[in-house]
Amino acid sequence: MNSFEQFINENRNSLNIYAKEYIENLEIPELLKESIIYSLVNDGKKIRPLSFLYLLKFYNIDYKEYFDVALAIELVHTYSLVHDDLPEMDNDDYRWGKPTNHRVYGQDIAVLTGDSMLTLAFEVLSKSNINDTLKVNLIQQFANYSGAMGMIAGQVYDVKQKNYQVDANYLKLMHSLKTGRLIELPLDFACKIARKESDLDYIRSFGKELGIAYQIKDDILDYYGEFEKIGKLPSDEDMITYLSFYGIDECKELLEKHTTNAIEISRELENNLLEDFANYLLKRDK
Ligand code: IPE
Ligand code: IPE
Ligand code: MG
Ligand code: MG
Repeated sequence: MNSFEQFINENRNSLNIYAKEYIENLEIPELLKESIIYSLVNDGKKIRPLSFLYLLKFYNIDYKEYFDVALAIELVHTYSLVHDDLPEMDNDDYRWGKPTNHRVYGQDIAVLTGDSMLTLAFEVLSKSNINDTLKVNLIQQFANYSGAMGMIAGQVYDVKQKNYQVDANYLKLMHSLKTGRLIELPLDFACKIARKESDLDYIRSFGKELGIAYQIKDDILDYYGEFEKIGKLPSDEDMITYLSFYGIDECKELLEKHTTNAIEISRELENNLLEDFANYLLKRDK
């Protein structure tokens, strides 16, 4: 079996349990607790925290010591989707195979749930057992990649694409920011925690290629995927996506191309674990 798939099977459930217990133990309003757990503990892939833990394993680090950092990463991802699904954004009714957060708790609580997950992520990371100098570096990178210069910038380019001339460069920039940054970040974090700075340039290039590939696959699945697998209905119908811009055949070629680029970069690291990760993302059906 693909080693990344095996890693998911071994750790995804533990990560969900860890996340649930962490939130249950917080002294916060019960409604907020319920709403956070509703969205955070889900049927999603948990690719970002799992790729972080997987790369730590690749570096022979006891990855189970870093579930808190993994949780911080997933909290930011989940907040971004709770807000992304809101009526003022993509107006989606389903996520992770169940009604979206605002459909269950209302828009007011959905906004506050996202806000609290984002701020909690930084609290969790700041309490982690990492030396202070490195931790400040990670916190800064986390804010940069998820904030106005990263994921949020990409979301602005996405929701306001009508204001721009959308061409191939625009699409690539938008996707590298809105999706790519949070795919790159877990890999960077693991490399830095493992003190493998000499690998960082490779890991970054690998993450950038996979980030683009990830969004291309997401656009394909959004249109062609099955609800039972992807847990959401097609959205972005009036939006320009990789799929509407390039068409399905060219999209598949681009997906292969970016994945192959990533695999070639990973071969410089002389360990086929990352190749398995890239191949898993290429073949995923959810
Ligand atoms: C969906 O991400 C949004 C993107 C940024 C492409 P995922 O497909 O990784 O989300 P999960 O697995 O449903 O949480
Ligand atoms: C979401 O992108 C990206 C985020 C940063 C939240 P999409 O809007 O394309 O993703 P889905 O289709 O809702 O998962
Ligand atoms: Mg969106
Ligand atoms: Mg969306």
